[in-house]
Amino acid sequence: MAIALTDSIKWVGVNDRLTHLFESLWPLPRGVAYNSYVINDDKTVVVDALKPLSPTAYLEDIREVLGSGRDLDYLVVNHMEPDHSGGVQLLKEAFPEMQILANKRTTKFLREFYGLEDCVKEMADGETLSLGNHELKFVLTPMVHWPETMMTFETTTGTLFAGDAFGAFGALDGGIFDDEIDIDSLEDEIRRYFANIVGKYSKNVLRALDKLADAQVQTIASTHGPVWRSNPKRIIEMYESMSRHEGENGVLLVFGSMYGNTQRMAEAVAEGVREGGIIDICVRDVSRTNVSYLLRDAWKYKGIALGAPTHDQKLFPLMADFVKFLENKGLGNRVAGVFGSYGWSGGAVDRLVEVAYGNNWNLVKPVVEACCTPSKDDLQNCHLLGRTIAQELTA
Ligand code: FEO
Repeated sequence: MAIALTDSIKWVGVNDRLTHLFESLWPLPRGVAYNSYVINDDKTVVVDALKPLSPTAYLEDIREVLGSGRDLDYLVVNHMEPDHSGGVQLLKEAFPEMQILANKRTTKFLREFYGLEDCVKEMADGETLSLGNHELKFVLTPMVHWPETMMTFETTTGTLFAGDAFGAFGALDGGIFDDEIDIDSLEDEIRRYFANIVGKYSKNVLRALDKLADAQVQTIASTHGPVWRSNPKRIIEMYESMSRHEGENGVLLVFGSMYGNTQRMAEAVAEGVREGGIIDICVRDVSRTNVSYLLRDAWKYKGIALGAPTHDQKLFPLMADFVKFLENKGLGNRVAGVFGSYGWSGGAVDRLVEVAYGNNWNLVKPVVEACCTPSKDDLQNCHLLGRTIAQELTA
């Protein structure tokens, strides 16, 4: 059912509580929302076309907002990932006269994904379009999250249709606005969404924020998560901080352990962190924790400690997966420590050191590598490693 942002701007989005893995990668225990909006003016517009889980209901909502007999003039495609463009063909079939407002880069995707070309009206960066009483301004924000991503700013109400930016995992439970939702309890899902989806493009998010600095934004209408009408500053500040890779003064400690030896080292490192005066310590077993949550917590904490054994002459495979994701996401600005163990060949710790240097982390000493089972000296060194991480964080 449509929900009013204003008399003329309505939300016609949908909660997805069926999909288990977003992009077939990221768990959705709380679901996810795909937001879509209708502006009803002299000209009529849908902004963002969503993944049509219930096509009939979606079209009914749009028709109800448009009013009897009114046609849809425009569809704004801010982003082509199919969770937002999946409904493009549906809308084109329902409203054959509809034009698609997009930018030059979007045109190629529309052709390649959906065979649509003639109905596209390309909008340049900064170009405006009057709808009657409302005015849309198109702001190109490439690589937040794909090359064609843009935002659409409705200038008379200050509504920013932001695409993936400022989004969150989590369906909208009973209300769509930030003042209708317990945002504190959603923070983890905002951070996880950022770390999993947008974090790799942090520099582009900061560029977009710079570009929007002079816009009088009153409401942020993202494609996922709440509509921020009461406190848009909260999500802007959170995104800015995450994009700068700032992080809280705590430590994420991720370990892998086949027979408990590396786990003993992990416990000693965690104790060392606490001895050094940091009590916000999050210890995670890489074999039991989905990488989506590990990435979230890596983004949350400024300190990171990684420990794993050698397996088949290489880094323990699940840790190898996690650090590959970390490298790909490009998370920087971290105080790091690494440790591990081996039986008949090394390899794990060398790879962890490589990851730390590759991501420009501040890798503190000692690097601890135990043979088979950690000795007393090894465990003392693990304590020292934990204390050193804490000292660097509190310096
Ligand atoms: Fe929500 Fe990049 O799509």
